[in-house]
Amino acid sequence: MKALVLSGGTGTRLRPFSYSMPKQLIPIANKPVLEHVLENIRDIGVTDIGIIVGDREPEIAAVLGDGEELGLRLTYLRQDAPRGLAHCVQIAKDFLGDDDFVMYLGDNMLPDGITGAAERFREVGPAAQVVVQRVEDPRAFGVAEVGAEGVVERLVEKPQQPKSDLALIGVYFFTAAIHEATDAIEPSARGELEITDAVQWLVSSGADVRAQEYTGYWKDTGKVDDVLECNRELLDHLVRDVEGQVDDESVLIGPVVVAPGARIVRSFIEGPAIIGPDSLVEDSRIGPHTSIGAQVSLVGTHIDYSIALDGASVSGVHAVHGSVIGRSAAVSSGDNSTRKHRLVVGDHTRIEVAA
Ligand code: TTP
Repeated sequence: MKALVLSGGTGTRLRPFSYSMPKQLIPIANKPVLEHVLENIRDIGVTDIGIIVGDREPEIAAVLGDGEELGLRLTYLRQDAPRGLAHCVQIAKDFLGDDDFVMYLGDNMLPDGITGAAERFREVGPAAQVVVQRVEDPRAFGVAEVGAEGVVERLVEKPQQPKSDLALIGVYFFTAAIHEATDAIEPSARGELEITDAVQWLVSSGADVRAQEYTGYWKDTGKVDDVLECNRELLDHLVRDVEGQVDDESVLIGPVVVAPGARIVRSFIEGPAIIGPDSLVEDSRIGPHTSIGAQVSLVGTHIDYSIALDGASVSGVHAVHGSVIGRSAAVSSGDNSTRKHRLVVGDHTRIEVAA
């Protein structure tokens, strides 16, 4: 079995970050989403992985390389423009050959892993298997209408009157039968080759298509609020590990990770929280549910339920909450205001907060 990870796209919902970095590299618990994805694929015993990339290829390749460090073999497949998920399968055709494969959206997080779904696909051996989850409002999703034994009877994209609450989430298992389907369909009204249309084509042609329900945690990290929520979920499983320096005047409570080279000075950290390598936390109050990247400087700052990316600095700002602070962004304040700040700050941005 091979894997196809989709890491192109435009990421409009994750602006401003997606202006300067591929959204799949946003860190969750200090690790890029894409790395979490690749680890889940490795856990089902698949090491030969094609990655669909757009014009962000150099940044993605700089982080993942050829995959050797993760024990994987990565092949980068360039997509000229985001022409849809089924288009991704088309351009990966030579790479995939006649193999079965798992297709995984590179911005989707399933921290409980996909081993159950993979086992089911291997056991039952259908032409295709979609992974679904029950959602409250299916109208925003591709929805599967499912009969006995998980047999898919129909797939509907964003139905106005959904007949099922089973939404397609970002993982699909395919046999080579999908290639005929992706070649047969036409672009949708939004001009994309839709994977739901390709899978529906298989259903209509009488192929055995199954749905496997996934009951674990799932998050599409396409929006800032979802990134923060997913970060909270992952940090809830954090294990305390303090390798950096913590001075006598600092207090760490609960699951706190202080990476090597980090320094905690006269500060209070309430876990779960991670402080990345070579970062400085001074006269500050951090956490809970906060991830601080590498080489970040936090001085005289109170921050919780937030993410600071590598090289960011925040100085003299209290009550930072629900915020994502981009790489090398600088936020500062001249006074000791206690009002809440809600900051979504892109890479290399400079902000001064008023009293
Ligand atoms: P989406 O999140 O649906 O699309 P997007 O990246 O364009 O984001 P937005 O809606 O915010 O503009 O895509 C899901 C995943 O698939 C994501 O990792 C990007 C990837 N993708 C491709 O690689 N090629 C494509 O043609 C499309 C549409 C998505």
